[in-house]
Amino acid sequence: MAAPTKVPIPALLDLTIDNITPNTVKINSQSGDRRMTYLMERLVTHIHDFARETRISTEEWMAALNFLVQCGQISSDVRHEFILLSDVLGLSLLVDSINHPKPPNTTEGSVLGPFHTHDAPTLEHGADMSSDPQGEPLLCICTVKDANGKPVEGAKIDIWETDSSGHYDVQHSDRNEPTERCIMTSDANGDFWFKCILPVSYPIPHDGPVGKLLEKLNRHPWRPAHLHFMFEKKGWDHLITALYMRGDPYETSDAVFGVKKSLIVEPQKIDGATAKEYGVPEGSWVLKHDFVLTTEKETADLRDRLAHEALEKQGLDLKLVDHLPVPDLD
Ligand code: BEZ
Ligand code: FE
Repeated sequence: MAAPTKVPIPALLDLTIDNITPNTVKINSQSGDRRMTYLMERLVTHIHDFARETRISTEEWMAALNFLVQCGQISSDVRHEFILLSDVLGLSLLVDSINHPKPPNTTEGSVLGPFHTHDAPTLEHGADMSSDPQGEPLLCICTVKDANGKPVEGAKIDIWETDSSGHYDVQHSDRNEPTERCIMTSDANGDFWFKCILPVSYPIPHDGPVGKLLEKLNRHPWRPAHLHFMFEKKGWDHLITALYMRGDPYETSDAVFGVKKSLIVEPQKIDGATAKEYGVPEGSWVLKHDFVLTTEKETADLRDRLAHEALEKQGLDLKLVDHLPVPDLD
């Protein structure tokens, strides 16, 4: 833990609209942790400015606090209302874009969402990760490569999707084992392939406070059909992404802003030879996709460069410590 900092604290008396902010910032500056001090200073400054700029009413502020209480009350191990809130406010996508910038021609990230779990079974290539007989069979044939086209062997790939009714397994109260999810590892050629079902569009959980907010804003809760992927390998930037099915009615109006053009794919009807080779029924869908990873070092360098450019543009006197901005007091 950082040593506390001795900051002269003025008498906190007779505070006003005009001086509450610098005084709050001062009393929050004693942790000795420069990053924490900076985060609190920015948070208090922006939130106080928000109150001053909107002349927010007491009723409005109480409604906001009650909204947060309701988000907490509906949350559980499998219901993450605050993730939903971050998603519909565009913050999840923003935070991911800041932290995982992608060089050109590498796979872009997308939102994680609240439905990734840590109990997916590890399956062999070619296995079927779905147990839903109502879904349309889809064979995915994928590769993991670096930006020079060299295979990335041994990447751990987490894959998950909804069932054909548009629900993740954790949304079923009688769930007793994971379904429509698995973990695979890329082979020496960077290949992995699996069977699943053609994804369907579905609404994000909207029976809680976030759903009510969307309704009030005249926004729909739908996500276009997609398959989630998470790639992990030491030395490589952790990639959280998804593939979106072309032509989905919600392709350009995703409730959580996750769609990028480079992530839109178009499954095809499988040809007889491929169906035979992979042991899937004729009439199945097939999707071929190449994922391109970046190294941790490339991502860290790019993130630092973009941070310097952004801070310079904003005219802020900051420096990066452990890749994160803090005031430059030295
Ligand atoms: C999902 O794609 O699983 C998801 C993302 C954001 C909010 C809800 C669900
Ligand atoms: Fe999803």
